[in-house]
Amino acid sequence: MIMTYHRRLYCLVAASITFYTTPTFSQEKHAEAEAGAAIYDDYCSRCHGEALHNTSGGVTFDLRRLRPTEHERFVNSVLNGKKDMPPWRGVLKPDQIEEVWAYIRATVDRQP
Ligand code: HEC
Repeated sequence: MIMTYHRRLYCLVAASITFYTTPTFSQEKHAEAEAGAAIYDDYCSRCHGEALHNTSGGVTFDLRRLRPTEHERFVNSVLNGKKDMPPWRGVLKPDQIEEVWAYIRATVDRQP
């Protein structure tokens, strides 16, 4: 009886340690999105608008229109450029492009 209690207590302690020391999925996503916001500010906002609010009147693309399923389109357009948008290949690292994507998703997909 006492053994069982101790074992349970041990499990609880071990589980709590794992929970509090491992960054959760959403914490990692949050950090990624924050890094993306800074990159967006530096490289994209002058054409795509402050904080993703596109005020170009349709001259540039409103990035909030990208659906979660359009990740591949996003990466392709960013790497290769499109019409008046310069390519970012060699300027941004693949990780940085993913961070901008995380920023867009975190902003657009946020629950109301
Ligand atoms: C010099 C201005 C300029 C900058 C800086 C810029 N863009 Fe663009 N971007 C454009 C224009 C113009 C378009 C519309 C292209 C078209 O006519 O389809 C566009 C379109 C896009 C599209 C949509 C392409 C598609 O698939 O239809 C994406 C995604 C995009 N930009 C991402 C970015 C990201 C991310 C950055 C920052 C790294 C960035 N852009 C920086 C001008 C810019």
